[in-house]
Amino acid sequence: MLKDKVRVKTFKIDDMDVTGRSDATILEVARDHGIKIPTLCHLEGLSSVGSCRICLVEVKGSKNLVPACTSKIKEGMEVITNSEKIASHRKMVLSMIFAERTHTCSVCVSNGHCELQDQAIELGLEHSYVPYIHKHFEIDASHKDYVYDPNRCILCTRCVRVCDEVEGAHALDIFGRGIDSKIIHDMDEPWAQSESCTSCGKCVQVCPTGALFEKGLSATEMVKRKNIVTNLIQARNDK
Ligand code: SF4
Ligand code: SF4
Ligand code: FES
Repeated sequence: MLKDKVRVKTFKIDDMDVTGRSDATILEVARDHGIKIPTLCHLEGLSSVGSCRICLVEVKGSKNLVPACTSKIKEGMEVITNSEKIASHRKMVLSMIFAERTHTCSVCVSNGHCELQDQAIELGLEHSYVPYIHKHFEIDASHKDYVYDPNRCILCTRCVRVCDEVEGAHALDIFGRGIDSKIIHDMDEPWAQSESCTSCGKCVQVCPTGALFEKGLSATEMVKRKNIVTNLIQARNDK
């Protein structure tokens, strides 16, 4: 008898018949079948936390939208990845992310190379649905190569996870609650004084916005190389 984890399940996404391993998520199966679902906190190879909620999809029979990146597939389920309801929820989610921090794209180091900006363009978000909070955080530019600007941080925790799960340094964490949350190094030391940080730069490469960036690069050069990290993870998993 096949072990449960390698069993295959058949279901529908956007009326298309699809199959996936029984332990797969809706997002994994959708991507395997060329169906696009937007993501921000999710990054292939890292654990999934389901925190940003941009990947919400409808499952027939379920009252609430569910995050595709953390929801496991079920035999016979019917998933809808695009509808008016979903688009409006995604716009609201994006609005809240924008409103929480200071995202003035025209003066941002990541202008033109930012996943948050890309999602806003793709969803046609022309204005925020919620008022801006205008909270100001101090920037940490103490590291010789990198800068952390909490004002652009969307708290996706990709940096925290890559540092822990791939680099093994666990130099980063989330500190504070709600809108006061920010990423800290060690016990909230300036980055340059962190004893756990190996200066590998993986956190910078996976950061979807201009919250973590390399010093000395212009906005046109600020292309994040998250593929370096995902390829590394893939190579390790293939061993
Ligand atoms: S991080 Fe992205 S969305 Fe935020 S200001 Fe910079 S370019 Fe705009
Ligand atoms: S610094 Fe970047 S990667 Fe880290 S939580 Fe903020 S936005 Fe995400
Ligand atoms: S990508 Fe699914 S919750 Fe963030």
